Amino acid sequence: MSRIPFEQLPGDVRQAVADKTGAVHHAVTVRGGMNSGIASVLETESGSVFVKGIPADHPQVAAQRREAAVAPHLPTSCPHLYWHLELDGWSLLGYEVIEGRHADYAPGSPDLPLVEAALTELQAVTAPADVEIKDAVDRWAEYAPPATSHFFGGDTLLHTDFAPDNVLIVDERARLVDWAWPTRGAAWIDPGALALRLMDAGHSVEAAVAFAGRFPSWRTAEPEALAAFGAATAALWREIAEGDGTPWKQGMAERAAALAYILAKG
Ligand SMILES: Nc1ncnc2c1ncn2[C@@H]1O[C@H](COP(=O)(O)OP(=O)(O)OP(=O)(O)O)[C@@H](O)[C@H]1O
Ligand SMILES: [Mg+2]
Repeated sequence: MSRIPFEQLPGDVRQAVADKTGAVHHAVTVRGGMNSGIASVLETESGSVFVKGIPADHPQVAAQRREAAVAPHLPTSCPHLYWHLELDGWSLLGYEVIEGRHADYAPGSPDLPLVEAALTELQAVTAPADVEIKDAVDRWAEYAPPATSHFFGGDTLLHTDFAPDNVLIVDERARLVDWAWPTRGAAWIDPGALALRLMDAGHSVEAAVAFAGRFPSWRTAEPEALAAFGAATAALWREIAEGDGTPWKQGMAERAAALAYILAKG
């Protein structure tokens, strides 16, 4: 959706933000991501705050609510959520500002060990039982080969969207933002999702799979589980690319097919 500047939000919505932050002096719209109708860094009386939001009647509002619900359970690599507001047709989240840049996933990038460290921290987190988040079996079942969806089950908290603009680099640290798709499932799913994004940044499929192998969850996963993941990921991206033929989606579908091929070989 198109992104509007903070100043174009309805007056009572801006006032509700100011009630949380103190007077808003300045707002700058950020780049990256596509779903948020507003994504701005505000300079306010109480300091800076990152605000992301979407219209309350937007289909993604459920994702925004999941993001708010899971926030208290996230590891230290994730920004702190200060508040969640819903009024006058808008749903807004106010976060600690991460003054970073988007991660560079290119082969040899010094960001890669930082991303590895952030994901290693996340791999140790159990999905909270009292929060309604997606289940990996439900998310992948319709794409996975017959009788394989059980492989996706587990109790690890997964991010699942490792697009490089969801990983901010600052002070020799990778921070994971954009928890629109928190999921409970098998721990090896996140290394697999990251591997596909590494391929998109220029890694060979072998190098991307080797990177996933840095995570014990991937190394110890059953080959049949990883093959099911490859097949499901390829089917998912094929569907996305068929629905909308923009070149990057076509590219992702091709890379997912290559990943599926190598994982099927075990
Ligand atoms: N805490 C933060 N501090 C500073 N900038 C941030 C912060 N969180 C996100 N950003 C920046 O804002 C962009 C958009 O935010 P985010 O990725 O959370 O939402 P999105 O991709 O637009 O929407 P969706 O949640 O629907 O996927 C990010 O790519 C990142 O550049
Ligand atoms: Mg994003």
